[in-house]
Amino acid sequence: MIYNTDDPVILSEDKRAVIAVDQTRLPAEFVHIRLETAEEIFEAVKRLRVRGAPCIGIGAAYGLAVCGLNISESCKSKEDFLNRLKATADYLCSCRPTAVNLSWALNRVYSAAEKNRLLEISQITDILFDEAVKIHREDISTCKKISELGLTLVKSGDGILTHCNAGALATSRYGTGLGPLLLGAEQGVKFHCYVDETRPLLQGARLTAWELSKAGQDVTLICDNMSSLCMKQGKINACFTGCDRVARNGDTANKIGTSAVAILAKHYGIPFYVFCPTSTIDLSCKSGEDIIIEERESDEIKSLFFSRPVAPENIKCYNPAFDVTPAELITAIVTEKGIFYPPYDFENKL
Ligand code: MRU
Repeated sequence: MIYNTDDPVILSEDKRAVIAVDQTRLPAEFVHIRLETAEEIFEAVKRLRVRGAPCIGIGAAYGLAVCGLNISESCKSKEDFLNRLKATADYLCSCRPTAVNLSWALNRVYSAAEKNRLLEISQITDILFDEAVKIHREDISTCKKISELGLTLVKSGDGILTHCNAGALATSRYGTGLGPLLLGAEQGVKFHCYVDETRPLLQGARLTAWELSKAGQDVTLICDNMSSLCMKQGKINACFTGCDRVARNGDTANKIGTSAVAILAKHYGIPFYVFCPTSTIDLSCKSGEDIIIEERESDEIKSLFFSRPVAPENIKCYNPAFDVTPAELITAIVTEKGIFYPPYDFENKL
């Protein structure tokens, strides 16, 4: 049994639903939602109820298995089953374009069905669930390994600046960018964590501040535009972030504002570390230029987290959800297979 109800996504006991922590309701409420259909899973990922690159991969993998079971009960033939399964995988994949873990996990689950197309449909649906569980299990061990490696880069008492949320909520356990801080808390290694809010969706304020303080780390929340001063004042010894897609040359897409933190870190001579599973490294992208950046609605900037609008109603907004940090600003990329330093020659090293 791998399930832990603190995991942001798990499979329901009856295998009819994905059970997910609704991250849009944190930190006020820790509430689980039940997602039974492809449309419900799509909406939950689109609205960031389920979010964070590895977490959306695990959620979509379980979701595709659940949908596969439903399809198996109404399909006309095996051909029809596989066609409808593929259409569901493509639909779920279209939900968020930047995080490669979404397409990676969906491809893994669909390919497991495709590879076993000669078996009975009921055996294929079992294989879908097995593959999703495998992805979940691997993420648990991957994040633990990343966290252990990350801990070797810093020392107790250091000031660590975080951006967005790359904790257990964004994965399954420990997380990637927050992994060393959460594992450190368990081992009595304490840090001064400077958590930036991460406008406009406030993953830092709502999720990272909640996770790190619950774990017992010392947390100070800052607005995004305060990190330069904090760095200048010597409060920050290292910056830790997760990422959504790494190109072959080490350019890295992560939550909007990450590249600004990296530029500041370079200016002040502070190491900037990126943490991710190797499944986030996309060898089909030559550089960051090839990474598609998701754009989101303007109400996220103007009104979503405010009790009244903070901008003129009709003002035009630009709301890219991610940016690309050039490889030359990254001190190292920490994965479960080791710590990679520039030049990031992943093709030959992985
Ligand atoms: O839009 P989000 O909240 O899904 O963005 C999340 C991030 O940018 C994380 O840093 C990234 O997915 C890595 S999570 C381990």
